[in-house]
Amino acid sequence: MDIDAVLSQAIQAPSGDNCQPWEIQKTSDGVEIFNVPAKDQSLYNFRQQASYLAHGALLENFSIAAKHLGFDPDVKLFPDANNLNLVARIKLRIINPQPQQLFECIAKRTTNRKPYKNIDLPPVLLETLESAASDVPGVRLMLAKGAQQRNILAKSSAINEQAVLENEYLHKFLFQHVVWTRKQLEQLKSGMFIKTLEMPRPAETVFKMASSWKTVCILNKLGLSKIVAKQNEQVYNHSAAFGLIVIKNNNHDSFVRAGQALERVWLNLTKEDLSLHPVAGIIFLILRIKGGGVKEISDKHQKMVLRSYENIKNVFHLDDTDIPAFMFRLGQGGKPSATSPRLPLKSLLRPGQNF
Ligand SMILES: Cc1cc2nc3c(=O)[nH]c(=O)nc-3n(C[C@H](O)[C@H](O)[C@H](O)COP(=O)(O)O)c2cc1C
Repeated sequence: MDIDAVLSQAIQAPSGDNCQPWEIQKTSDGVEIFNVPAKDQSLYNFRQQASYLAHGALLENFSIAAKHLGFDPDVKLFPDANNLNLVARIKLRIINPQPQQLFECIAKRTTNRKPYKNIDLPPVLLETLESAASDVPGVRLMLAKGAQQRNILAKSSAINEQAVLENEYLHKFLFQHVVWTRKQLEQLKSGMFIKTLEMPRPAETVFKMASSWKTVCILNKLGLSKIVAKQNEQVYNHSAAFGLIVIKNNNHDSFVRAGQALERVWLNLTKEDLSLHPVAGIIFLILRIKGGGVKEISDKHQKMVLRSYENIKNVFHLDDTDIPAFMFRLGQGGKPSATSPRLPLKSLLRPGQNF
């Protein structure tokens, strides 16, 4: 059995703006997974927290696929304290394949940014999601589903969209990663395809104009950033619930584990034909501001983000020891208009040995 079959599933993991910040080295008894900081230099990726989360999702896919295809993975996170780019060293032992219910969901999982139906989710599903996440050590999933809570969370998360259009660094990173045509997408196999953003045509045209920083500054004077935030708030309000992944330690291991939990939740939702949309921007900005990375964020935006976080904290009844790691909305969203491709496995492999 070839390990490439497992790796091909692992790299279907989600990542911020579809940056795919990983490289893989095959070793004599398994594989090593590396983070590539240069692939995601955004303000959202303070101390590589967002990338570590994405790696957690990759490792979750890896473990599911390995067992399904006949390998027992022994995963050690950050085995070299002097090299935090080495996220995991995985030793593999050949075993009889152990069919995994979630295996088929790895390839089907996708981000869905459409408005969702505000349906009532069955309590048993919510319990499954909570326990899938809390099976990962040090991680907890909190869910909020009442209309009033949803309103607050929709508004608080959409503040991020205002910030993206008003902060030059956030703006630059977003538009560097937008892919405008299918042809370009076919070549790049990374980044965020415009059709996955689920914008109506007129909004797409304005979005294109807003890709120039000079133009967006003028349009913001006419209220664009606030209008966009309002429109996103309305979309986010069409959700069955919001989820917040919470950790207790602000270290790299915990962000990887938060990513493992996120992927478990996402795959379980996929199994039930339900959708998930990360609304993580505001959380990553809070982590950055609280960690002291404020140089590139104006006082006005810091205040805006901190106010939003107070609301999020109140809805989820967080205490001061809880660290928010990731927020998302979930519900019945149907089929997204487009999906995001992945780089070929070959291009992610470092020269090495063969398992
Ligand atoms: C750490 C992380 C942060 C993300 N943040 C956001 C976000 O704030 N808003 C959003 O629309 N999508 C977000 N995403 C979703 C990614 O854009 C998406 O996973 C990527 O484009 C690949 O698409 P796919 O999930 O459909 O495979 C995030 C994903 C990860 C893993």
